[in-house]
Amino acid sequence: MTRVLSVDATDPQPEVIAEAAAVIRRGGLVAFPTETVYGLGADGLNPSAVQAIFTAKKRPSSDPLILHLADFEQLASITQAVPEAARRLADQLWPGPLTLVLPRAAHVPLEVSSGGPTVAARVPAHPVAQALIRAAGTPIAAPSANLFSRPSPTQASDVFEDLDGRIDLILDGGPTAIGVESSVLSLVTTPPTLLRPGGLPVEAIEALIGPIFLPGEGEQSGPVVADNEAAPAPGMLLKHYSPRARLLYLTNSAQAGEALLARMRQIASQELAAGRRLGLLLPEQELAALDDLDAERFSLGSHNDLGQIAARLFAGMRALDRAGIASILTHDYPNEGLGRALNNRLYRAAEGNTISF
Ligand code: TXA
Ligand code: MG
Repeated sequence: MTRVLSVDATDPQPEVIAEAAAVIRRGGLVAFPTETVYGLGADGLNPSAVQAIFTAKKRPSSDPLILHLADFEQLASITQAVPEAARRLADQLWPGPLTLVLPRAAHVPLEVSSGGPTVAARVPAHPVAQALIRAAGTPIAAPSANLFSRPSPTQASDVFEDLDGRIDLILDGGPTAIGVESSVLSLVTTPPTLLRPGGLPVEAIEALIGPIFLPGEGEQSGPVVADNEAAPAPGMLLKHYSPRARLLYLTNSAQAGEALLARMRQIASQELAAGRRLGLLLPEQELAALDDLDAERFSLGSHNDLGQIAARLFAGMRALDRAGIASILTHDYPNEGLGRALNNRLYRAAEGNTISF
């Protein structure tokens, strides 16, 4: 059975952390909050504990995991060498929502890296994550704490919904602040490659180390490969972060104003005419303008606050799924800053099906 323990998000109780750390040390699975999303943690140096993560999530073992470290100094123990770029990024951006991919040290279990030559690592900023890693005394391997291909969990109840009975413990530290996963940057290529846009905007990375390679730059939402092709990063799999409902994802919607509202009305009436229950996953201002529509609503917050929209996006997909609706109407954001991560997650949630505005 899965136990749930409340933990203070800013000042975690030592006895709660000690209990969770003991579970990690004996090879168990603990879900815990990070500043991005909830992670499903295991001892990152224990192959069978890492293996258990894949089983619990029903995740293919070809999808490598991030090692969560207490501090930058720990990086040297899991990589072959720490390049200057890693030092510069970590100095300014760790702890925080940035994952670095580097050559793997030989003793890192192959299960973590899915047999590859690299390892991904980040130092999370959340006090609970920090305390847990320190108390466990080991790097903690942790993917997002959802069933494979489901939206990432941004609150403990999301973890419970997916993983009750499949893991040992959930630390409930309330909702996560950022709401989308870390940005994943490979430092094994020249220039470095952004493998996944995330909670740390590209602009902040480039300000420190210069231009990086953005695969698919110029396209709306970055690269996507079909599920059966070799993926550069499994976060790039087409079906990912998906609600059960079908996503009606309008792209090129920026600055569309009244015309966008009219288009959404048109799509909504088609759905309703076909007898499908409709959900609206939109900013507050647009929900207000569409308040006459017969639909379930989830407000993403203010339309000009991308941070708020990111924090609510996955919770919104899950809430609309729980309401049993068939189609979710939503749209993209300007492709800069956090907008890049939002568009990436929406594109994948839509399984690559977009409706160009
Ligand atoms: O914010 C986050 O990153 C959250 C929290 C819990 O830290 N974790 C997370 O983990 O999102 P996960 O497993 O859901 O996503 C990890 C991403 C995947 O897209 C995976 O392909 C990529 O990181 N990744 C991991 N190791 C890699 C490696 N060695 N090379 C390339 N990509 C890697
Ligand atoms: Mg994930």
